[in-house]
Amino acid sequence: MSNVQKLLDERNIPDVLKGVKTKDDFQKKQDKIRKLLAERQYGEIPGKPDHMYVESGEPYKDFAAGKATRIKHTLGFEMDGKSFSFPMMSVIPNGKKKCPAFVYIDFNGGEANKYMPTEEIVERGFALFTFCYNDVSSDDNNFKNGIAKYLVKSRRKNTATSKIALWAWAAMRVMDYVETLSDVIDLDNVAVIGHSRLGKTALLAGGFDERFKYVISNNSGCCGAAIESGKVGETYKRISEVFPYWFCPAFNRDAQAGNPLPFDQNFLMSLSVPRCVIVGSAVEDLWADPTSEFLGVASLEGAYKLYGMRGLVHKDEVPAPRTVLDEGDAVYYVREGTHFLSRHDWNTYMDIIEKKLGK
Ligand code: GCU
Repeated sequence: MSNVQKLLDERNIPDVLKGVKTKDDFQKKQDKIRKLLAERQYGEIPGKPDHMYVESGEPYKDFAAGKATRIKHTLGFEMDGKSFSFPMMSVIPNGKKKCPAFVYIDFNGGEANKYMPTEEIVERGFALFTFCYNDVSSDDNNFKNGIAKYLVKSRRKNTATSKIALWAWAAMRVMDYVETLSDVIDLDNVAVIGHSRLGKTALLAGGFDERFKYVISNNSGCCGAAIESGKVGETYKRISEVFPYWFCPAFNRDAQAGNPLPFDQNFLMSLSVPRCVIVGSAVEDLWADPTSEFLGVASLEGAYKLYGMRGLVHKDEVPAPRTVLDEGDAVYYVREGTHFLSRHDWNTYMDIIEKKLGK
């Protein structure tokens, strides 16, 4: 048995593949897991809106000194007789066809910021579709602003929609827009990406929406990529106390009481198999716990095997800093330093995708 398998066995996590023998069984299991996580962890994810419209501003073709076209959009929705909207930005390399793309769930907004090196992204031939999570709904217990006002009737229900679920829903709506651009965007190569709380969000969006070919979690930690059982740093108990609005009331109740749960984070991660799950850690980010994030990806091995694919190709030990394990169909990457989404991280993710594309 490999060392990594031993480490996983020691964590003694609920088995995603229990009762699963074939791909078909697994797909049915994934549907059950989606239901389970909506009921017990992130809350219900609203359905597709009855009607979505896009209002696009004037294209600015000279973005990054002529490299790309930037457009500011409003995505508007009608649902259950109500209408609401949030802003979104696209930056698409000029003169290219079929670009791979990122749907980036952003903390800060603006054309570029400390986590979002827009110019570098388009320079490498990737398109960027991005929105600021606060424009969707605020990062707090207020469910009366942004889309929460329309999509969350009450937070009293055990399964009530959480903020993470709303931000993930918004990423899926951005993907609805991306899908209309099949001439310029390579729709088979769209990634969803987020950092930290938004890395958790990216995993949820990717897990519920198969149009995302790459699901990238940067330093997502607790309730993201990190296996909870045996985790150091942040725990379910602590996160549900400080950030209850990220989860549904049932999760907060169970986490606070320390009730045994029928899932660990391998459940969330497994929803994106057989697509490419990419997890990035930082060595000093002990709150997120790089080892537990690594085990989160490593846990997917059996699910990929059902498809004749290779999960993470690495069996011996927890990888050292500066390692990119990208030989398999799931990827783990760890760099030196602290909790951050850096230029180096973006470049690494683009290297990984380019390699998968045979570039
Ligand atoms: C806090 C929180 C983490 C979260 C992080 C972030 O540290 O405890 O769970 O990932 O904020 O979003 O930056």
